[in-house]
Amino acid sequence: MNQLFRRKNYSANDHPSGLLRVLGVWDIVFFGIAAIIGAGSFSSLGEAVFRGGPGVIILYIICGFACGFTALCYAEFASRIPTAGSAYTYAYASFGELIAWVIGWALIMEYSFGNIYVAFSWSDYFTSFMGRIGVHIPEFLTCSYPEAKKAFFGGSQNIELINAWKTAPTIGNLKIILDIPALVINGLITWLVYVGVKESKNLNNVFVILKLFIILMVIAMGIAFISTDNWFPVSTVTHVPSFMPNGFAGVMSAVSGVFFAYIGFDALSVLSEETKDPQKNLPRGMIISLVLCTVIYIILTLVLTGMVDYRKFEGIGDPLAFIFERSNANIAWMELLVSLGAIIAITTVLLVFQMGQPRIWYAMSRDGLMPKKFMEIHPKHKTPSFATIITGIVVGVPILFTDKSFILDFTSIGTIFAFVLVCGGVLLLPSKEKLKGRFHLPYINAKILFPIIFLGGLLFFYWWQPEFFHTLMEWDHKTEGEFRISMFFFIIINIGLCVLAFVKNLSLIPLMGLSSCLYLLTGMSHNNWFWFLVWFAIGLIIYFSYGYRNSKLHRSSNNDENQK
Ligand code: ALA
Repeated sequence: MNQLFRRKNYSANDHPSGLLRVLGVWDIVFFGIAAIIGAGSFSSLGEAVFRGGPGVIILYIICGFACGFTALCYAEFASRIPTAGSAYTYAYASFGELIAWVIGWALIMEYSFGNIYVAFSWSDYFTSFMGRIGVHIPEFLTCSYPEAKKAFFGGSQNIELINAWKTAPTIGNLKIILDIPALVINGLITWLVYVGVKESKNLNNVFVILKLFIILMVIAMGIAFISTDNWFPVSTVTHVPSFMPNGFAGVMSAVSGVFFAYIGFDALSVLSEETKDPQKNLPRGMIISLVLCTVIYIILTLVLTGMVDYRKFEGIGDPLAFIFERSNANIAWMELLVSLGAIIAITTVLLVFQMGQPRIWYAMSRDGLMPKKFMEIHPKHKTPSFATIITGIVVGVPILFTDKSFILDFTSIGTIFAFVLVCGGVLLLPSKEKLKGRFHLPYINAKILFPIIFLGGLLFFYWWQPEFFHTLMEWDHKTEGEFRISMFFFIIINIGLCVLAFVKNLSLIPLMGLSSCLYLLTGMSHNNWFWFLVWFAIGLIIYFSYGYRNSKLHRSSNNDENQK
């Protein structure tokens, strides 16, 4: 049993990188914005608004807090382990191999599967940009097969998807429907990463400024078209004007799309070896970028839902351009500008994720948990070449067979799960000696505070949304049923955490991170949980049949025993 939790000792001399410490806090913020703002704000915001209405801003705030607490936990890990790394590296040193493997496995969902969604979004903006300059790409070449099929048979209003199904050529009984732009951009990015595109600070900064410029333009141009009536449409639940037209359950059903918009800040932890005074600048940079992004998302949501009725965002993959279409604000040059800006903005996210994945596999392979081939370095380009190609395949093949919303849910549940482990993990770390110049997660005793916050939150929620609570109690009630079981578990687990906090004087910040990430998991449907558990089980099978036996720690402990 102890073998499953064998830990790796890292020392400052491990994997000396020889990298120069050149990045200051604002560079970190810029890298943060490069990784965070992308498909989430340019694409999934549309579906989130359709589900939750203007009230979805509440979810942006909740996710902002959850990610903020998690970022502090990442920073705590980064300050304890002297090498650059991801949650995988941190877990290996702190909790041992099995948890490290589980996190590494969950990170595949974040990086590779996340990029599938990002590639789909890139394709949406690319297609609409081409359409706007008069180049029509047939619909059956711009979406995936399952998406078109689902739209056609599911009675969707999305004309493009329905056209794709109707006009696709067939071979035998099979309709030829595939997302060519998504496949091409994935191929292109894989090639760039393969030949070793450098993360250039200057180029990165140019892209970020462009991204922010486009978003500021959307806000500045959009504000004039806001009609405050749109912020209070008639509720489908209470039939009176409401900020949350589909109730709080509607807001929570948007959790995948909203959370996705925040993913990426954790990729900053790999920059620790290139950051000046990383223990201070890294956490500051992460938090500043998260706060900026939260503010941007809230304003964007208010602009979008003020300009256009939230119901019109159903199936809209390019919402920031859509609001300027002829049937909405009717500003053609903005449509064009936004589409072009989005293509560039989303490309930076693709690059960050596509570079991150092979490096995690590289680390896992170095530890013996993945085949040696994954640490093969290209002799000329000096990149993890094999791992990069496999990443391209892992992203590319599902582009043919999956639909966007499934991938979005899958990415979000996997990433939230990894965050839960990171926050939970920090709670288990032994206290460390305070060293000057290092980041220290401030210790606030959660003994009394956490139970007060949790019970207070529950009471507030009951006062604010009694309806949601009442349906929670009715086990045979069909609507919102998905959330009820998760909510039940959430409450039980938190009561347990209150007791633990009281008995063990736990630290408040990681506890809040853990609790808020668990709360986000309550928004996941049963279908998401099912696929997530399947993925999890596959991961465990691979670990026990390969990683456990081939792990370097396993081999060295066997050698030690043989020598005795
Ligand atoms: N947060 C990243 C994006 O929105 C994944 O594209």
